Amino acid sequence: MIIGGSASQKLAAKIAWELGETLCPMETHKFPDGERYIRIGGDVTENAVVIQSTGYPQDQNLIELFLILKTLKSMNLENVKVVIPYFGYGRQEKRFRKGESVSASVIAQLIEAAGASEFYSINLHENGICDFFDIPTYNISAMPRIADYIGERFENPLIVAPDKGALPFAKEISDLLKCDYDHLEKNRLSPDKVETKTKNLDVKGKETIIIDDIISTGGTIVNAANILRQHNADKVVVSCVHPVLVEDALLKIFTAGVNDVIATDTLRSDVSMISVAPLVAEALRK
Ligand code: R5P
Repeated sequence: MIIGGSASQKLAAKIAWELGETLCPMETHKFPDGERYIRIGGDVTENAVVIQSTGYPQDQNLIELFLILKTLKSMNLENVKVVIPYFGYGRQEKRFRKGESVSASVIAQLIEAAGASEFYSINLHENGICDFFDIPTYNISAMPRIADYIGERFENPLIVAPDKGALPFAKEISDLLKCDYDHLEKNRLSPDKVETKTKNLDVKGKETIIIDDIISTGGTIVNAANILRQHNADKVVVSCVHPVLVEDALLKIFTAGVNDVIATDTLRSDVSMISVAPLVAEALRK
């Protein structure tokens, strides 16, 4: 039985279809004072798979997830697999300053304590997050799906990582598509400010695809797009796994001359056109 939390109902339905499983009816709502209510409407007698992304509103989606997991635990199910396509709080996976909470670790412990017996996610911000769990963990890469999408629409593009952290993604895609890749260097000045070093790039007349795991404020992408435009790239397309897209991020990106933004459906957004459902289904089947 596939159980979709309110953040991931559509993706849960797609995963249920891929697996030929039933999508469990779910009731979720908010009480007038803001508290969450959930009711699992189906008869869950055997294994359950819970799908819930924990992007904005993170705390609400997490509480809903914990309520679902604890309710399933009270039904004495043997195996409850949890799929969190976008793992919120994943960017604080270490203590940078004394006294800080290692949020990713706290969330991992809470998910496990709530009753998860296996954990699945897509392109965790750091693979090390898996080590915070004692249950089996699976960090699935969405790059093959993104590469397929790009490969069907672009002939010999240049894949560009907007910073060194995104280099493995650019390499993975360029290996799959047998095309070139390059990278820029970025320095984060504050949570919403980044600077990117200009660099000589041979992009004149080329179709370029910027690839990153997350687009949050859009600052990283805007800087990279500006550099590619200054170097006379023919086309600048942006692709990411998790379209977090804070406030007017998409507008900033299009205003910087980006031709298109392509993202997966780990989070719902206007640009979530590549579904990760086949990848999740494949991992769950194993
Ligand atoms: C950074 O480590 C990530 O890979 C992304 O580059 C970052 O989250 C993007 O943030 P923003 O869109 O706010 O520049």
